[in-house]
Amino acid sequence: MSHTPGAGLSLDTLAISTGYDPATASGAAKPPIYLSSTFVYPSAQFAKDTHANFFEGAPMPRGEKPGYIYARLSHPNLDMIEARLAAVDHAEASAVFASGMAAMTTVLMANLKPGDSVLYGRPLYGGVDWFLNSHFSQFGIHPVGYTDGVDEAVMRAAAEEALAKGPLGVIHVETPANPTAVISDIALAARIASEVEKKQGRRPLVVVDNTFLGPFLQSPLKHGADLCMTALTKYCGGHSDLLGGGVSGRAELIAPLKTLRTMLGNHCDPYTCWLLLRSFETLPLRTERHCKNAEILAKWLKAHPKVASVTFFGFLAEGSPERAVYERQCSGSGATFSFKIKGGEAESFRFLDRLKLFKYAVSLGGAESLICHPATTTHYQIERARREAVGIDDSTMRVSIGLEHPDDLIADMAQALEAI
Ligand SMILES: Cc1ncc(COP(=O)(O)O)c(C=O)c1O
Repeated sequence: MSHTPGAGLSLDTLAISTGYDPATASGAAKPPIYLSSTFVYPSAQFAKDTHANFFEGAPMPRGEKPGYIYARLSHPNLDMIEARLAAVDHAEASAVFASGMAAMTTVLMANLKPGDSVLYGRPLYGGVDWFLNSHFSQFGIHPVGYTDGVDEAVMRAAAEEALAKGPLGVIHVETPANPTAVISDIALAARIASEVEKKQGRRPLVVVDNTFLGPFLQSPLKHGADLCMTALTKYCGGHSDLLGGGVSGRAELIAPLKTLRTMLGNHCDPYTCWLLLRSFETLPLRTERHCKNAEILAKWLKAHPKVASVTFFGFLAEGSPERAVYERQCSGSGATFSFKIKGGEAESFRFLDRLKLFKYAVSLGGAESLICHPATTTHYQIERARREAVGIDDSTMRVSIGLEHPDDLIADMAQALEAI
């Protein structure tokens, strides 16, 4: 049988046992991949009832399970991964998309309308930053950024600035933020949303991008987020071999995302859903090892004379507001963080070109360690002044520490830092 949340099982177990019941597929221990674009109705009445259920939420007669219609609306492998993601995110429901950007842009399009403002933390993943600041402005949506997601006064002032431009529809919190890995306080964003609701009569949705930590290190919905978005491409997929994005939350917030997804056609395909379902089984184990390796590397880098600074949750100062948020909100530091070398672009490039084990590539969360130079890659489209204001300069590196032996990773870093 497929186990459901609430049965007293731990997240580790739910990551393996939710979403698929072998009894539905001839006892196959692992699910088939349902490669079918369309689904046959057993009767005309069943077809009508299934459509009424999908489009209007009408209950099926006699409590029957609705059928599938067409793979763009949903398909069996999508249902499986959505059930598993919802379980580990402590959510009522989830929607899974073709990529993290597909998920994020659908959330924004479904919840913002012309004239609205949107509040977002900076720095921010470059794609979402571009979407908010370059694309959305054409539709009369006003993005307002804030740079300290832990400071109540800063957040409140940013919310006032947003409200002056239009009704605040969404507060978008990426924590840790890409690429520097700075922290934001999810509960604070939820409090600000409640204050704004009193002023404008509509509650802005608090949307948290949980990509850097994932469901085993941070549960945004437990801290007051309305929606939790995760680029499944990263740690959840875990092998740098797929693209996917998931959104979890209350069923009433997920349903409109699925309707919009149907029209945009940006759902996750059966094979990728199958890969993701398998990847979730090892996610708790991988998360643990990623974190262990990252802590070793971060400590080693911090002590290196050619490294100017390391931004890693584990180093947040005792007694600081950031540390308090970390202790309340996260159960580990994650394995993607940033550091600055002593030097500029030329020194950075010399260092990067000498690495042998670390692969120089964008992305994160795979079994292999990756490194990139955000200023000239992931955040290339963000103008220099805006980038530098949030700490992304020519000396900044972002690393995603993989599952290799940490001694080998240290040896590689050591020989490459010699090039500076
Ligand atoms: C924090 C964060 N959010 C969203 C995305 C977008 O995910 P995807 O590449 O799957 O579209 C990324 C990609 O790097 C990311 O780092």
